Amino acid sequence: MKEITLKSPLDMHLHLRDEEMLKLVTPLTTQTFAGAVIMPNLVPPVDTLEALVSYRERITAALGDDVFKPYMALFFRDYSEAELAAAKDEMIGIKLYPAGATTNSEAGVKALDAVEPTFKMMEEMGIPLMVHGETHGFVMDREKEFLASYEYLAKKFPKLQITMEHITTADAVDLMGKYENLRATVTLQHLIITLDDVAGGMLNPHLFCKPIAKRPEDREALLQAALDANPSLMFGSDSAPHPLSKKECCGCAAGVFTAPLALARLAQLFDKHDKLENLQDFVSGNAQRLYGITPLEKKVKLENTPFEVPSAYTGHGQHVVPMHAGETLDWSVTHIS
Ligand code: NCD
Ligand code: ZN
Repeated sequence: MKEITLKSPLDMHLHLRDEEMLKLVTPLTTQTFAGAVIMPNLVPPVDTLEALVSYRERITAALGDDVFKPYMALFFRDYSEAELAAAKDEMIGIKLYPAGATTNSEAGVKALDAVEPTFKMMEEMGIPLMVHGETHGFVMDREKEFLASYEYLAKKFPKLQITMEHITTADAVDLMGKYENLRATVTLQHLIITLDDVAGGMLNPHLFCKPIAKRPEDREALLQAALDANPSLMFGSDSAPHPLSKKECCGCAAGVFTAPLALARLAQLFDKHDKLENLQDFVSGNAQRLYGITPLEKKVKLENTPFEVPSAYTGHGQHVVPMHAGETLDWSVTHIS
């Protein structure tokens, strides 16, 4: 029997949605994680302090007695200095979406150069920037094409802390190491799957997300960086639930739902590669250092005993299919304190 006890696991990129979906999925993260960065791509987006505070209240109501801190993020727009000053202590950073790049991003940024004054203020005020780094190019090249923008921003605003969200390419791993102010999150699915798993055989809508899973050599580079607990890399599940009717249809929504199995599957993955000792830094230590945060105390014990992933999570009138639905994982969460 093998086991590991993780201290205060953090999910640095999470979608909790709103209303009934929020009620269903929030506990599925807050049971096992001590905190998460909450993405602001609601409709309409969370782009005022008022909206952020009221969203946080709805999350807090949904999590019950769980020990959990939602690290709130604003949706990037041209903010005034007064708005930034008022919101600074209530949030962990601001999330930038290129307009139309992904789910609920229509209100995103059309041109980066037009919003540089906001970057400058964020840099001066010490507000981190989180970025969905994809262009509107060919789907497999969108992240690669965006890397020049990351590099431009990293150089032009050397004190601005920039997180490349959900990186999916070996090129992004390389770039992350080049600039002190560039860090990244990576999801569970991008450590495990390639485009083949999404569309190489029978189409699997439950593995379809943005950015799309890439080539074997990309997955290998991401996995190595995660297994080594590369100090610039953090776990961010990008767990992105959509109702079954929006996934199993013509015009499938992008997003993979992994929250309830993320830690067990990560333990299985790190164990397989004999790197369990690095999991703590990957799921908490690196994020604490990079963001300068001290999470709430929580201990999550995992053991290599089987965990049957449900075929769906249901409740509050919602029905969501997780990754690995109906499969049995080798590891499970056995105790939380
Ligand atoms: C996310 C969502 O559904 O909100 N979808 C996804 O495919 N990752 C948005 C995002 O993070 O791109
Ligand atoms: Zn996301």
